Amino acid sequence: MEYLYVPEPQALGSMAARWVAREILKLPTAVLGLPTGSTPIEMYKVLVRMVQEGLVSFAQATTFNLDEYVGLNADHPQSYATFMREHFWSRVDLPKESVHIPRGSAPDIVAECLCYDEKLEEAGGIDIQILGLGINGHIGFNEPSHNLQTRTHVVDLTPETIEANARFFPDIDSVPRQAITMGIGSIMQSNKILLLVSGEQKKEILYKTLFGPVSTEVPASILQLHSELTVLTDILHYI
Ligand code: F6R
Repeated sequence: MEYLYVPEPQALGSMAARWVAREILKLPTAVLGLPTGSTPIEMYKVLVRMVQEGLVSFAQATTFNLDEYVGLNADHPQSYATFMREHFWSRVDLPKESVHIPRGSAPDIVAECLCYDEKLEEAGGIDIQILGLGINGHIGFNEPSHNLQTRTHVVDLTPETIEANARFFPDIDSVPRQAITMGIGSIMQSNKILLLVSGEQKKEILYKTLFGPVSTEVPASILQLHSELTVLTDILHYI
């Protein structure tokens, strides 16, 4: 594991963007796994600038998002598809057909999960996975549980996640109770993982993730078993 500490929260996004840009320059055809949420917003902003300045191109890349809320269609203002369009897809040179996100409003959600995994398999899996960390230790929407699922599946969101994500919705009752998420197996099979963690409120869960026992109760702790994990954070832990 590589632990990269950034003293300034604002610098986290540009450090992350440069990390991703270096990977894309090395492998322009990379398959990227992408997160939404507050943490990667600055990274996307800087990557957009880099593309506009001609420093990097996503023209040959493919992307798979980690998750989407069940019941929200791609045009819903709070869907992750809308988030991605606004922050990234519409601003970079990624071809439309190279972009993938689960369809939260698919009529058959189980079939949608299978179809997502088929597309992931056709693409050869993820080369570079970027992750945020939930306050309860989730990655994607793989929530704490007595077991973890390896492939794309439907998940009931925990009260902590619903509460944490209420800030993006008009009120807590509008937060969907379920999501589709990529499974832990697909995440762990990525060649490289970049975990982005920001804010003192995540200090304890980051500690448990990296130094606690590997446990399904802290899904992110499984990342300890990945051989190419880079943690980029503004949280200082002495290691
Ligand atoms: C979102 C996702 C989640 C977030 C996590 C942290 O696509 O996969 O695991 O990365 O909930 O969210 P923020 O960055 O908003 O604290």
